[in-house]
Amino acid sequence: MADSKLQGTRVLLGVTGSIAAYKAVGLLRTLMGHGADVSVVMTDSATRFIAPLTFEVLSKHPVATDIFSGHQDMPHLSLPESVDLIVLAPCTANTIAQFALGLADNLLSTLLLTTQCPVLIAPAMDGDMWEQPVIKQHVQTLRARGVVVLEPEVGELASGKFGRGRLPNEETIVEAVCEQVAATKELAGRRILISAGPTREPIDAVRFISNGSSGKMGYALARAAHKRGAEVTLVSGPTSLHPLWGVECVSVQTAEEMSQALQSRFGAADVLIMTAAVGDFRPLHRREEKLKKRDWQGEPIELERTTDILAALSAQRTHQLLIGFAAETNDLIENGREKLEKKRLDMVVVNQVGGRDSAFDNETNEVIVLTRHGKVTPMPRMSKHLVANRILDELQEFQLASPALPPQSLSKHYSESK
Ligand SMILES: Cc1cc2nc3c(=O)[nH]c(=O)nc-3n(C[C@H](O)[C@H](O)[C@H](O)COP(=O)(O)O)c2cc1C
Repeated sequence: MADSKLQGTRVLLGVTGSIAAYKAVGLLRTLMGHGADVSVVMTDSATRFIAPLTFEVLSKHPVATDIFSGHQDMPHLSLPESVDLIVLAPCTANTIAQFALGLADNLLSTLLLTTQCPVLIAPAMDGDMWEQPVIKQHVQTLRARGVVVLEPEVGELASGKFGRGRLPNEETIVEAVCEQVAATKELAGRRILISAGPTREPIDAVRFISNGSSGKMGYALARAAHKRGAEVTLVSGPTSLHPLWGVECVSVQTAEEMSQALQSRFGAADVLIMTAAVGDFRPLHRREEKLKKRDWQGEPIELERTTDILAALSAQRTHQLLIGFAAETNDLIENGREKLEKKRLDMVVVNQVGGRDSAFDNETNEVIVLTRHGKVTPMPRMSKHLVANRILDELQEFQLASPALPPQSLSKHYSESK
């Protein structure tokens, strides 16, 4: 009976034009019964077999069928980003061929081209179709790419013939889903604290000093870490981004508020990833009312330094891994290494700011990851979503290579490495 094996897991169920499409209803209910949050995407052919309304009512989500229906949020891009796993069940010979060849003429095949998340296929088709060399080749291609393609079952087919082509039974599909989900939760049990966005330091009741950070990098990391099973807390300065599903989101405004929010959560964290562009200065005096233009006689705004949050937390670390971000305009590696050593970090992600390709408020980023072991990994320009995943790969590799050192041995490490 129902349990919570898939609690917190988001599944995208792709239903295609097979006579077995009705079985996807039972599968949807079973996945939900295990705690999964399931959204359904149907091909046009699938809607000839079963009405989207059935899935809509049961899944409690709208069913997407049309790539051109939501111009604003482009469902072929937004849907796969928010899920942990895509399950195609039943999957036709046509959709298998499209996926293998990279064809994209409907919503489902297009989102299969954009996704980074694991895909599991439960095929259903006539026995003669399954035995076709071209289908065998497509299945082989997909498996070689890491897609899990289940074997269809042997039995009586819709044509009345006997052969291999029946949709694998529900239990087999659900077990494969659970295995896939477990395999992608490499960060299960890890508590990751992430800071994101800019801070705002008020000058008066309406004006403030801030910077151009959009928060996108930190949010992408929080989403990616959550997908890998981590327990994530995101402390964010003011951004236009929506809170993330499954992530504890804490909103702050000033550097001081960010410092307090991080301080109070640092002890319980295993990893701190500091992507926030925290203001280094704040006005020494804040006016409670708006300063009128006519009242300003040219007095300068005096500034004072804010707390260096990363340095302060680094000094308090017990077991935490610390990852800093360095926003630099020049000498990226040298400046990154200096920050790594000065603040005794485990990793620094250096990104370029300023100029046309600035990391600030950009959809893409080009970074260099430096570790305290001296590893330097330059990464090509890619979406912040991909950069986030590559950074987590580096983090996991780093953790395997070296469990966190206590602070004393870190001091030793840094003095030796100079
Ligand atoms: C009654 C009927 C049953 C079908 N069953 C299957 C099937 O089980 N598997 C399959 O690959 N194609 C099946 N087809 C053919 C697909 O519906 C057809 O290839 C369609 O183009 C698939 O489109 P889709 O992959 O975009 O859903 C069936 C067609 C009909 C009319």
